Amino acid sequence: MSETMHYQQHLYPGTREALGEAVHKKLHDKRFNHCLRVEQTAIQLAEENGVNLEKASIAGLIHDYAKERSDEEFVGMIKKHQMDPDLLNWGNAVWHGVVGAEFIRDELGIYDEDILNAVRHHTTGAVEMSPLEQVVYMADYIEPKRDFDGVDDARDITHKDLRAGVAYQTKQTMLYLAKKNAPIYPATLLTFNRWVAQKQMKYNY
Ligand SMILES: [Fe+2]
Ligand SMILES: [Fe+2]
Repeated sequence: MSETMHYQQHLYPGTREALGEAVHKKLHDKRFNHCLRVEQTAIQLAEENGVNLEKASIAGLIHDYAKERSDEEFVGMIKKHQMDPDLLNWGNAVWHGVVGAEFIRDELGIYDEDILNAVRHHTTGAVEMSPLEQVVYMADYIEPKRDFDGVDDARDITHKDLRAGVAYQTKQTMLYLAKKNAPIYPATLLTFNRWVAQKQMKYNY
């Protein structure tokens, strides 16, 4: 998708180029370049899976929009929007997605809930993830400069079967956190139960 294209679907009130500039203003070059690679990977996964290409472009490009905000800004946003107080127990890794979506709505004028959910869930995963959410979750994990052990397996699995990619990443994330004795955000655990253990909950809680 070229930078000068005009988005057609009124998901963002401007061109692709203007959105790129708005994102770049808030991110260092290195992270902005990561966002460009996630955008391209998201578009590719969207083509493979029949997902809306403009949504994939926008969501990929903006997924880390809020990553360089201060903790104070995130706490202020959590309070302003009366978000779940448990969020205050966590930090940037969780906030830049879950809370970052609110910065995007307030500052960029993007209101599409599927795009916002793709941002919200791109780090933690979620029990229910739309195809667009799955695309962004995986694009962030396998973009061309990722080079962790197993990334080629992750790419093969994801291009063959997007949902299998989601399960693969979720399992690797759980293993990584467990090995470091790091705390596991509850939504990540629930994502594991649904996508890896394939546990169907009979009772909502
Ligand atoms: Fe991120
Ligand atoms: Fe990212």
